[in-house]
Amino acid sequence: MASILDKHQILEKNATLLLVGSLLVVSIGGIVEIAPLFYLQNTIEKVEGMRPYSPLELAGRNIYIREGCYLCHSQMIRPFRDEVERYGHYSLAAESMYDHPFQWGSKRTGPDLARVGGRYSNDWHVQHLSNPRGVVPESIMPSYAFLKDQEVTVKDIGMDLKANEDVGVPYTEEMLANAEADMKAQADPNADTTALLARYPKAKVGDFDGNPAKLTEMDALVSYLQMLGTLVDFSTYDDASGYR
Ligand code: HEC
Repeated sequence: MASILDKHQILEKNATLLLVGSLLVVSIGGIVEIAPLFYLQNTIEKVEGMRPYSPLELAGRNIYIREGCYLCHSQMIRPFRDEVERYGHYSLAAESMYDHPFQWGSKRTGPDLARVGGRYSNDWHVQHLSNPRGVVPESIMPSYAFLKDQEVTVKDIGMDLKANEDVGVPYTEEMLANAEADMKAQADPNADTTALLARYPKAKVGDFDGNPAKLTEMDALVSYLQMLGTLVDFSTYDDASGYR
C-alpha cells in the first residue's frame, strides 16, 4: 500500500504528468458516456401515432412561432402529479420529435398547451384569440383578431415541408407533391379529404375560423392548436411510471 502511495508522489509532484493523468481519467469517463450514443439508432422512444405536421398545421405552427406564443405558453408537461392532473399525461420525447425548433418554452404566463387539442371548440379558439377578455375576463393575453383577416400564404408551404424533410422529418414524395392541395383541402368543408387523412391520420378537417370562403392565418393556427397532444393514443400506451 505504502509503495503505491509513494509512486503517486511522482504524479503529484509533476504538474505536467498530473495534467496528462487527469485528462486520461476524464476521457475514460467521457467515452463511456458518449460512445454508446454513436451506436444507438435513436435515443427517442418510438411511440405509435406520431406523424409529421399536415401542411395547414405546419403553417399554423409557423404563426405560433412568429407571434411569440411560446413566450407565454409552454408545450412540455413535466412528470409531476400537479401537472399531470391539470394538463394530462406528461410529455414524451417522441411528441416533439418533428419539431424544428421545439416549442417547450421556458415560462408559463398562460397555461401549458401541449394537450390543448380538442379541449375547446374551433369557435371558442377563434373567439378567444380575437378577444381573450371576451371569454376569460381576467386574461392578460393579447388579441390576435387580425389573423382572421390575413390570408395564409400557400405557395411557400411545399418548400417548408421540404426544409423539414431535409432535417429528418419523414415527409414522403407524395406529401411534398400534394402540400398546397392538402393545405387548402384541410380547411375546406366541401373538399374530399380522404387522401389527406390517409397521409395525416387524425388531422382535424373543416372550416376553422368561421369563414369558409377564405383560408386565413386563423384557420392555420386553430388547426395547429386542435391537433396538439391528440396524436398519441394514451389508452394504448404502456406506461410503467405510475404517474397516471
Ligand atoms: C402575454 C402572454 C401571452 C401570449 C403572448 C399569448 N398568450 Fe395565450 N394565454 C395567456 C394567458 C394568461 C392565458 C390564460 C387566460 C386565458 O385563457 O386567456 C392564455 C390562454 C390561452 C389558451 C387557453 C388555454 C387553456 O387551456 O385554457 C390558448 C389556447 C392560448 N392562450 C393560445 C395562445 C396562442 C396561440 C398565442 C399566440 C398567438 C398566445 N396564446 C399568446 C397569455 C398569453
